[in-house]
Amino acid sequence: VGEQSAKAGAPGDRTASSKRVTPASLDEAYDRFPRVETEFQAALDESLNPRGPDLLYELVATLGLEPGVTVLDLGCGEGKHAIKLARDFDFVVNGFDPVRRDIEVANAALTKSANESPQLRGLVSFQIAVAETIPLKDASVDLVWCREALYHFEDLEQSLSQCRRVLRPTGVMLLQHMFATPRLDERESLELWDNLHTVPANVDVAYVESAFGAAGFAIDQVIEHAGEWGEYAYERSGEPGRRLLHTARLLRDPQRYIARFGKVNYDIMLGDCLWHVYRMIGKLSGRVYVLKPSG
Ligand SMILES: C[S@@+](CC[C@H](N)C(=O)[O-])C[C@H]1O[C@@H](n2cnc3c(N)ncnc32)[C@H](O)[C@@H]1O
Repeated sequence: VGEQSAKAGAPGDRTASSKRVTPASLDEAYDRFPRVETEFQAALDESLNPRGPDLLYELVATLGLEPGVTVLDLGCGEGKHAIKLARDFDFVVNGFDPVRRDIEVANAALTKSANESPQLRGLVSFQIAVAETIPLKDASVDLVWCREALYHFEDLEQSLSQCRRVLRPTGVMLLQHMFATPRLDERESLELWDNLHTVPANVDVAYVESAFGAAGFAIDQVIEHAGEWGEYAYERSGEPGRRLLHTARLLRDPQRYIARFGKVNYDIMLGDCLWHVYRMIGKLSGRVYVLKPSG
């Protein structure tokens, strides 16, 4: 797992490469550049070996947590990660999410997984709950796992304070999240976060880091994976390319899709596709934080 110092700059800050150098002449653009173009493209066809989402599990393996410790998967969605944490590490995992459908799907996934690995029945449970009021006792959790959920927490400071409250003094919070970068302009930002039902402040790295401090957390590690998960997915399945094509179709013929699926679903689909595209082009940048109680 590659690491960066906790004093990393703003997400997507690629100062050296973002300085504009205008071609000095027409010759430079149309004579010199074509001479390197093919070789340049061949270099770009080589993978930069992006890390994928498994980096979170690799990170968990370094935390020295024993089998049987208690984990909270906050905003667990359909339960895939809660089940994997129990299967791979023998943790006791509580998956919380406010959406009833997610909890139903998670329970169905648990039933299916438990057919092959019966011990999961005693290790994993799912429950409807929100981050703002976590229904667990003080100092009862060893790891809070929060992946791609921070977008939606209406009251970020209260949610993080709840995480701090339920963590044991020796506990760890592992938080993965995509942040807006300076490449995401205001109009794009408004449309994206509105479509995806996100609290816009929660994608601002300075705001989120100040909320960590206010809630009683210190940053132990920051890993900036930027757009790597997008590259990783593209190299394996081409999925981000598919989302780009879908974006083009959504934008070119909105009525076709609105008439069939409704405007709300159209907006969510557009937001979701743009999220994948923006992640590929540096308008969103991923980070993982390892947080520890500060005192
Ligand atoms: C993008 S999904 C991520 C799901 C899962 N963590 C994953 O990585 O696949 C975001 C999840 O956050 C949940 N969520 C929304 N508001 C929440 C809140 N206030 N407290 C906890 N979870 C919330 C949503 O219902 C949704 O399942």
